[in-house]
Amino acid sequence: MTKRKGIILAGGTGSRLFPITMGVSKQLLPIYDKPMIYYPISTLMLTGIREIAIITTPHDQEQFVRTLGDGSQWGLSLTYITQPKPDGLAQAYLLARDFLDGAASVMVLGDNIFFGQGLPQLLQEADQNLHGGTVFAYHVADPERYGVVGFDGDDKVVEIVEKPEVPPSRYAVTGLYFLDGTAPDRAAGIKPSARGELEITSLLQSYLGEEALKVKRMGRGYAWLDTGTHESLLDASNFVRTLEKRQGLQTGSLEEIAFESGWIDREMLAERARIFSKNAYGEYLAGLLAADDSWQQSGG
Ligand code: TTP
Repeated sequence: MTKRKGIILAGGTGSRLFPITMGVSKQLLPIYDKPMIYYPISTLMLTGIREIAIITTPHDQEQFVRTLGDGSQWGLSLTYITQPKPDGLAQAYLLARDFLDGAASVMVLGDNIFFGQGLPQLLQEADQNLHGGTVFAYHVADPERYGVVGFDGDDKVVEIVEKPEVPPSRYAVTGLYFLDGTAPDRAAGIKPSARGELEITSLLQSYLGEEALKVKRMGRGYAWLDTGTHESLLDASNFVRTLEKRQGLQTGSLEEIAFESGWIDREMLAERARIFSKNAYGEYLAGLLAADDSWQQSGG
């Protein structure tokens, strides 16, 4: 069976962040000490995904390539795809059809950050389900901004509605979608919505209609942050800063995940530490190397 591949949807207009995003893509803005896109990449890496397509606007692609390269520094293979116009989230599956080549996929929105104890297990479990799809429902204060899950009396999911005026629940579908290899064909059958977009909720409804969609609750022990407004952008930065300062551990360190996963060797980690030697991130990577040294010397 073809291995699951990753997609990061990092196009869009970012109009809620104007004037900041008039000259730079939202997903390259800083979340405290790293570009935003590092965090969704880390989510895919924690799932075990190494083959990733990054979908951007045509005019922003160059900056993404400059920031991320071919991914080999993290043991990844990155493919860049452009989306000419922001015609909706489900369009990603049409644009990525050749890249996927029939494989199952996990798509994460480029402005979504996930954090929590046990996240890798949650992701890896979803990865195991190769038939149909898996998405996550998260309790939010403002469900009307999202795709919202409707449950029946037995807690069974009966519908997913996009930005409803009267939300059927407070559970929003997060920007993380594990779908099987039929997603591009299904996306091809979707009609644009009233606002002219190929909606991800329409794609999910197609799975739901065949009872082929698992909706897992992501409980209160997890943080799901989206960073599309000035306030949420600053909140996300503060969240990462607070965690990193308190724990002395990094969130979204691609080098750390790659090294721990055995996808890069000590030389590559040392090289990355050298590139960032002028700041705390470089020190952190050098610290990982030192810890590995002493572990090896103690007989590992
Ligand atoms: P949104 O936040 O819905 O849209 P946006 O990023 O364009 O921002 P705004 O509403 O402020 O104009 O998009 C969610 C994510 O999906 C974000 O990472 C951008 C991305 N996206 C695309 O890449 N292509 C699209 O066609 C759409 C609609 C979104």
